[in-house]
This record gives sequence, C-alpha cells and structure tokens, in this order.
Amino acid sequence: MARPQSVRIVEVGPRDGLQNEPGVVPLAAKVALIDALADAGLKVIESGSFVSPKWVPQMADTAAVLAEIDRREGVRYPVLAPNLKGLELALASGVEEVAVFTAASEAFAAKNINCTIAESLERFTPVLDLARARGIAVRGYVSCVLGCPYQGEVPVAKVVEVSEALVAMGCYEVSLGDTIGVGTPAKARAMAQAVADHIGLARTAIHFHDTYGQALANVLACLDIGVATVDAAVAGLGGCPYAKGASGNLATEDLVYMLNGLGIETGVDLDRLAAAGRAITAALGRTPASKVAQAMAAKAA
Ligand code: HMG
Ligand code: MG
Repeated sequence: MARPQSVRIVEVGPRDGLQNEPGVVPLAAKVALIDALADAGLKVIESGSFVSPKWVPQMADTAAVLAEIDRREGVRYPVLAPNLKGLELALASGVEEVAVFTAASEAFAAKNINCTIAESLERFTPVLDLARARGIAVRGYVSCVLGCPYQGEVPVAKVVEVSEALVAMGCYEVSLGDTIGVGTPAKARAMAQAVADHIGLARTAIHFHDTYGQALANVLACLDIGVATVDAAVAGLGGCPYAKGASGNLATEDLVYMLNGLGIETGVDLDRLAAAGRAITAALGRTPASKVAQAMAAKAA
C-alpha cells in the first residue's frame, strides 16, 4: 500500500495537550488556541473532555470553552465523553462528535477509567446508542497500544480485539494511542497493520506521544502502509512539566513540516500553526517543544 496523498490531522492539543497542565489555563487562552488552530486550517480540533472534574480538573471548563469558541464552517470540535453523563453534557453543549476511550491494558484501564476493559466497553454501549439516536459521530481511543506503564508488554492481539469491539458498537474510527511513547517504527507499523487488517484502513488512526522521540518515525512507518489519519498536538503540548522525563504528544508543527516535505496534503498553514503554538506556550510560560517551531522561531529572530 502506497503512502496516502493527503492526511487528515486530528488536533488534540486543546484536550490531550492541556489536560495534564498543573496550573490553571485561563479559559480565554483555551478559546484563543482553538480559534487559532481553526484559522491555521485544522478541520478536527479536539476541544475538551466531559469527564470527572476531580480526575481531570483542567478540563472542567469544557462547556464554557465550547460556548465561547467561534465555530467555523467545516470544522469539527469533538470532546471526550466516557459515559452517559459525559455524553449528555456534550449534547447540551451542541457537539457534533464525541470520543470514548479505553485501553489494551487492564492495568491502565483500572488507573485511567477505574474499571476493566470489558466494563468500559459495556459502559460505552448506551453512549453509542444515544449518540446514534442523536446523529452524533463517535470516535474510539485505545490506549497503551505499544506498551503500558503498569503491565509492560501489550499483545497486539489485545489491541485488535478492543479495536474490533469499538467498531462493532459503532465507532466510526479507532485511534491507536501509544500513551507512553515507547513504540518504535517496525512495532508501530505491525500493530497498525494488524488493526487495519481487521477494522479497515479507513477506520484506523494513529496517536503517538513523543516521549522517546519516536513519534514522527512511527508516523512515517504507518504512512507507508496507508494510514491517513494522524493525531497531533500543537507545540508538542501534553508533557507534564513536573513529571521528570515526560514529554508530550507528537507536535503538529513537526508532523505538518514532514508531510509538506513528502508532498502529502494537510490543508494546514504551518506559519499560522506555529503562531498558535507560540501563543499558547507563552500563556503557559514556556516555549514550544516542537523542533520545527523552535527552528522557525530561531530563523525569524
Ligand atoms: P468513576 O469514579 O469510576 O465513576 O469515574 P463514577 O460514575 O462513580 O463517578 C464518580 C464521580 O465523577 C461522580 O461525582 C460523578 O458524578 C462524576 P461525585 O458523586 O463523586 O461528586 N462523573 C462525572 N462528572 C462529569 N462528567 C462526567 C462524569 N462521570 C462521572 N462524564 C470516569 C469514571 C471515567 C468518569 C473517571 O474515571 C474519569 O473521569 N476519568 C478521567 C479519565 C481521563 O479523562 N483521562 C484522560 C483522557 S484519556 C487519554 O489521555 C488517552 C488518549 O489521549 C489516548 C492515548 O494517548 O493513549 C485518549
Ligand atoms: Mg494521548
């Protein structure tokens, strides 16, 4: 399978990127970020989570964020909604898409969503049913697809099984999350291929964290088998500054720069994207983690 001619980028910075920030991120900074990302040409911007505010306080203002953003024609603003309560709150905010999330590792599911994988899938059934009745698209996430901080190795067969279950209950797409960024290209490609063989390439998305600096290499390996939906976070947001060695999501700037070089369409304006990354990191009191953003800033200085 040849590389795709265009890639659909799912920008997860406002959600995955900001959910671990230790300090309060002002509502205005979140809203400005989402609007700037839309201005840069991103068509899917994950904008928050309807989860327990005790678990993830940084996402507690998601309803306010959704009320304040300047919704653009043709742009989707999905949010995480792990249970019926989350979906009901999301519906009240007028979302057109939500995402449910589970893991390929039992140990991680217990820590992240406080239940077993099977229980998480059971919990999603009414979420998917209500979403279908309301015409809301649902994306599924599988975490720890290339390793788990608590159980170590994660069998590819388990990733396939969970992905198939999500599609069977109605998810239009499954995003494969290397939550702790331990994957390397050959393993990433084999895992994505195994999933795509079962749920189809068009339903297969990839979500890499850059903890070990492998995210871009992993994306390239998966592009080679035809994967065409890639998650990324502007400025490489997502690292927790207080967790030693933890770094964030694949930076959208790095992804766009590589795809531009490969002649793969994204519809994203790199200069505007980098400006969005500089603005949010300035609001957080730091500079973008993206190498491309750093190089662009150095050149402009
Ligand atoms: P629980 O404690 O098992 O469930 O939480 P519960 O039903 O017993 O509820 C406990 C409390 O949470 C109750 O409040 C509920 O009302 C409230 P209390 O009575 O104690 O005051 N609650 C909610 N509040 C608002 N919105 C809701 C909601 N649901 C319950 N939707 C739950 C289960 C899943 C809710 C909880 O474990 C949770 O919120 N976890 C947060 C998980 C999370 O957001 N993780 C980060 C996102 S996943 C990720 O980052 C990975 C990804 O990027 C891919 C990758 O990299 O791998 C996607
Ligand atoms: Mg993530």
